[in-house]
Amino acid sequence: ERLRPLIAGNWKMHGTGAALEQIARLKTLLQEAGDIESEVLICPPATLLDRAARRAQSSAIRIGGQDCHADPGGAHTGDISASMLLDAGASHVILGHSERRADHGETSDIVRDKTKAALAAGLIPIICVGETEAERLAGTANQVVGEQIDLSLPDAFGETPIIIAYEPVWAIGTGRTPTTDDIAHMHAHMRNLLVARFGTAGESALLLYGGSVKPSNAEEILRTPEVNGALVGGASLLADDFFSIIVAA
Ligand code: G3H
Repeated sequence: ERLRPLIAGNWKMHGTGAALEQIARLKTLLQEAGDIESEVLICPPATLLDRAARRAQSSAIRIGGQDCHADPGGAHTGDISASMLLDAGASHVILGHSERRADHGETSDIVRDKTKAALAAGLIPIICVGETEAERLAGTANQVVGEQIDLSLPDAFGETPIIIAYEPVWAIGTGRTPTTDDIAHMHAHMRNLLVARFGTAGESALLLYGGSVKPSNAEEILRTPEVNGALVGGASLLADDFFSIIVAA
């Protein structure tokens, strides 16, 4: 049975109030299209969460955060807790994105604590993993991603679906992508690890691919075995491009 694909847009640090028009436009495109198989998620910057959630109301578009703190509250200037994201209208949260791992020193241990916090608050975490170019060239991509999965995931997800985004660091924002064979191999590797550790929850885990997904390569990537959706950066900023990717799934 085919898992319902998830097409998630990560706006990163892009967008002020004007960007909400893209949500309105996407809503119109989705309404005109009628039945869409994929689940659609947009993760805007935290400043837009509440307004984005309002704009997305009575549509199939769900809203997510891009990070949360591991604690439920406290003296953490500038940080946002999982329950705050939920309160602002988020259903999901991206955790352990390579930009956070690189820019903010997030280790897999930290990502695991954040994942626990997200689950406790009732958010669906999207946990990001992926090797650097040096690691791929050294032949250690499988090992690196395996370790990230081992350490970044807590032992129990309860009823919450497990969602992993495989994003090779060298493919993010570069226009370069792995071959579909390389994607298939990595996703099969991740599936094996998840099934070994989580059983049936691993079988139904959604394995997203991320890194330079765009309208022109979406169909090929999304029909690769064990690819259950995409995490889209740049191409999620314009509703028409993002919509083309959604219908390619
Ligand atoms: O979270 C999204 C990814 O980092 C991919 O970004 O589609 O701009 O390459 P990109």
